[in-house]
Amino acid sequence: MTTADPLRPLSGKVALVTGASRGIGAEIAMALAGAGAQVVLAARDGARLSEKVAAIASAGGSAVAMTADVGNEDSVKALLSRIRDRFSRLDVAVNNAAGGGRIPAPLAEWASEEFDSAVSVNLRGVFLCLKYEIELMLAGGNGGAIVNMSSTAGEQGVAGMSGYVASKFGVGGLTRVAALDYASEGIRVNAIAPGPILTERLAGAGQAARERVAAAVPLGRIGTTADIAAAALWLCSEQSSFVTGTVVAVDGGRLAGTPAFTTQANR
Ligand SMILES: NC(=O)c1ccc[n+]([C@@H]2O[C@H](COP(=O)([O-])OP(=O)(O)OC[C@H]3O[C@@H](n4cnc5c(N)ncnc54)[C@H](OP(=O)(O)O)[C@@H]3O)[C@@H](O)[C@H]2O)c1
Repeated sequence: MTTADPLRPLSGKVALVTGASRGIGAEIAMALAGAGAQVVLAARDGARLSEKVAAIASAGGSAVAMTADVGNEDSVKALLSRIRDRFSRLDVAVNNAAGGGRIPAPLAEWASEEFDSAVSVNLRGVFLCLKYEIELMLAGGNGGAIVNMSSTAGEQGVAGMSGYVASKFGVGGLTRVAALDYASEGIRVNAIAPGPILTERLAGAGQAARERVAAAVPLGRIGTTADIAAAALWLCSEQSSFVTGTVVAVDGGRLAGTPAFTTQANR
């Protein structure tokens, strides 16, 4: 039984979103603020973070920018210290930041430095965020809700994407372990596996490329940042209070299986 205002289910909560300077993270920050949370937006680019904070303020929400590099432990530690000093609590965290490992090449052609860089930000970065977020949530004693951003590439292989795929599979693993380790403390940990979403990269890829991508999605379209923000908001709110340790695919059906065979022989 929840007592939260259904229109502002995160009222009174403090939320952190990493990778909030653009794309999916920025949309999630806006959604959490719209649900009543005080939101900390983190990424490396302070100027872009400030633009997103201003947009949230003009929509009537409460937000603050804090620069951080999730690939650097001291930086993540300092981010969570700043949140503790300013708010004395953390209720919600969305570990969305990712970078690197997105230029496809067969595995043997991947430079080991590229692989390390993808794992350092996409996987070790999520580990570091979880570590220091959970520490602050435990100190508050009120439980919490954490969402890690995985990918359909964290649930099935994608040719040419070894560093990205390996790091996202790891995110699913960390999500399940953290959920088990902290369920008794009331901290829920889940992940989202987005399919192709219209952010800067796909927007810049050209119409023909976008049509090819959409054609490979059973629902026949590319997802929007709002599709992912809606799932994140649900996982961060009491509406999902019995959900932990799971990876929610928001992918237009991509992970459901292969498209139907069309030859007569397979009917
Ligand atoms: N878009 C898709 O189609 C899609 C599909 C599946 C999964 N995903 C996942 O969804 C998440 C967001 O995707 P997106 O497309 O919105 O990504 P994006 O447009 O590339 O944005 C990535 C965000 O992460 C931040 N970031 C990168 N490296 C960082 C670091 N070392 N420390 C702190 N912040 C860092 C970036 O900000 P700064 O550069 O300012 O640091 C930016 O805010 C990622 O985890 C991605 O893997 C996306």
